[in-house]
Amino acid sequence: MPHHATVSRKTPLHAKLFLLLVTICIATAPAAAKVVAERIGDGVVRYFQNEQARENTLPSLALDHPRPALGDAPAGFAVTPVFSTGPSALHGDERFVTTIDIQPGTSLYGTGETPGPLLRNGRVTECWNYDAYGYDDSYHNLYTSHPWVLAVRPDGTAFGVLADTTYRCEIDLTEGIVFRADGPPHPVIVIDGPTPKDVLQKLGELTGTIEMPPRWAIGYHQCRYSYFPDSRVKEVADTFRAKHIPADVIWMDIDYMDGFRCFTFDKDKFPDPAGLNAYLDSIGFSNVWMIDPGIKNEEGYFVHDSGTKANVWVQDKDGNEYHGYVWPGECVFPDFTNKNVRSWWSGLYTDFMANGINGVWNDMNEPAVFNVATKTMPEDNIHRADPEFGGPGPHARFHNVYGMLMVRATREGVMATNPDKRPFVLSRANYIGGQRYGATWTGDNTANWYHVDVSIPMMLNLSLSGQPFCGPDIGGFAGDGDGAMFARWIGFGALMPFSRGHTAKGNINKEPWAFGEEVEATARRALERRYRLMPMLYTLFEEAHRTGLPVARPTFFADPTDPALRSEDDSFLLGDNLLVAADVTPGRERVHILPRPVGGVAWRRFDFPGFDGLPDSTDPDLPTLYIRPGGIIPAAPVHEYFGDRPDQRDELTLLVCLDADGKASGTLYEDAGEGWGFRDGQYLRTEYTATRMNNEIVVQTKTLGGKMKRPDRTLKVRVLLPDGREITGAGRDGRRVRVAFED
Ligand code: GLC
Repeated sequence: MPHHATVSRKTPLHAKLFLLLVTICIATAPAAAKVVAERIGDGVVRYFQNEQARENTLPSLALDHPRPALGDAPAGFAVTPVFSTGPSALHGDERFVTTIDIQPGTSLYGTGETPGPLLRNGRVTECWNYDAYGYDDSYHNLYTSHPWVLAVRPDGTAFGVLADTTYRCEIDLTEGIVFRADGPPHPVIVIDGPTPKDVLQKLGELTGTIEMPPRWAIGYHQCRYSYFPDSRVKEVADTFRAKHIPADVIWMDIDYMDGFRCFTFDKDKFPDPAGLNAYLDSIGFSNVWMIDPGIKNEEGYFVHDSGTKANVWVQDKDGNEYHGYVWPGECVFPDFTNKNVRSWWSGLYTDFMANGINGVWNDMNEPAVFNVATKTMPEDNIHRADPEFGGPGPHARFHNVYGMLMVRATREGVMATNPDKRPFVLSRANYIGGQRYGATWTGDNTANWYHVDVSIPMMLNLSLSGQPFCGPDIGGFAGDGDGAMFARWIGFGALMPFSRGHTAKGNINKEPWAFGEEVEATARRALERRYRLMPMLYTLFEEAHRTGLPVARPTFFADPTDPALRSEDDSFLLGDNLLVAADVTPGRERVHILPRPVGGVAWRRFDFPGFDGLPDSTDPDLPTLYIRPGGIIPAAPVHEYFGDRPDQRDELTLLVCLDADGKASGTLYEDAGEGWGFRDGQYLRTEYTATRMNNEIVVQTKTLGGKMKRPDRTLKVRVLLPDGREITGAGRDGRRVRVAFED
């Protein structure tokens, strides 16, 4: 509808002329110049520069399925982007620019995997997946791309902006929010919500959520580049069990392969991978094996030959096979943008997984190329992409999704081989929405205090960008570090959503026992805490799967209206009820800012009794744990791995912190820990509530959902009273438990 200005006889002449001019301008402006705004969800609006941009738009690879317009944008929608063109701040070339104003006091987060602090105001991030070995604060782009910003206004309301493009895109947060993207005009999706949590749940609805992981993948993972031969793998796994240090997974890095040829095994170092996996399984270890995208360009090697026959390789601009150097030497690269290529790739996993392989690690999939300055393939390489991805196009368009499409094909292969098991795939490169296919770690960090410091904010900003299953290489990939640093790192790393120790070739050993008895004791305490908290962690992973809420959350989520919490990033929340406050500097000089008391009751410090009888909190290298007033945390007895019985499922402890009204509540999700039975109701979701009634605390159980039988187990209750006392009691789960105390 063209707009018409109203002119009456009383209107002065100059105003009449002005209005006439405005009317002419509006009437004659090409329709193409008008921004198109359409509603695609509740509080979600998609903007296009104009009608032409809407018609020509490329399919979205961020959204988990296409979102048709549901109608016009709601009148007065809070956030409106302005589109223009202008130079890139980092490279100077002309770009498509989106600008969004923010009100003073707005805090900006997200932008995916970025080094440096949690709060991103003033920072420039670039979406261009990059093999960033040894990165530091000066790096604008790392391994994954999330063209997404979460903005939290001073009043605690929030909005999020997604630049829906796969092209190279910079996110400039020095003044408001500015995206500058290569390629044609792209849509921008804005989510507006009453809280940051609400915005993240809507991001999950749009871009998908993680698959429910197998329970073992939430345990501790031990890795190095590389454990070999197989006897060394067994030795490391045996040592965990001998020393009673909890761990669930051991990883095989590239040296298991025959000359770095993917899907092969070195005949001398790993003569019997199935036997090795069976041994590991017998002592409660799951296994993960690495697969890279670079396939050795060698005739006679079955992956190369079958790929060549199926015509799967990425082509250069002239349509010839593209060759680049990675671990095995000269390589060809599967074109994962093509359906036939993805199904060829998935098919390779059948024989591979038949060796009893549980999980797969996809690395180097930015894709990394060694012998060139850009460290990746040329931007004019050609991908023969599916129509659903917009058809064939240059690498410039597909670079940022190469890793995501690889891990998607890997996951499909893993699932086709083991349809009754939940897949676990870890990928170094990824793109927003890639949480649908795999977990992510923060790549090749360094054993120094800078990386100890950025571990938490990096994990949190990934979590605020849709990827909850993430964490750093605990102990540092590059370099050795020392015991003091390792103790601190594993202290809080043990409570990260993805918890894995790893280090590079040539470095000292970094297993939990490698730095002597004292550090070993700290590592054991740290990992025992993880396993004690497993019922809560598993509950949070299921919540992330179901709702898109992250497992780990910034401390300000406890109170988004408190400006003092907005840049707290040496602490984090697990769910709503647990705060983990870590010392990330050698001198422990930083004083944490805690969420304000709730109704006069402060967040309460607590700990578990250590294996040596001392409370864990007497270990200065472990982070301090706090529970929210009004929260209940479900905890298990210490166990060493998933399936380590009998204790694990025969006893549940509720840690209860009463609020000012003498009440608390918390939920617990349980299922088989593997397989898909939960989809048919084979799970149990329970709400526990505690209420103070005169001189006793009454704990009640309510089944919220699921038809799994409630385990017949002891319910232990530990109540933290507002006056500082702690009282305990016990009963049977499912029945009312009363804990008496003296006034
Ligand atoms: C890359 C990975 C690292 C791995 C190494 C060898 O650098 O980031 O984790 O150990 O390659 O495969």
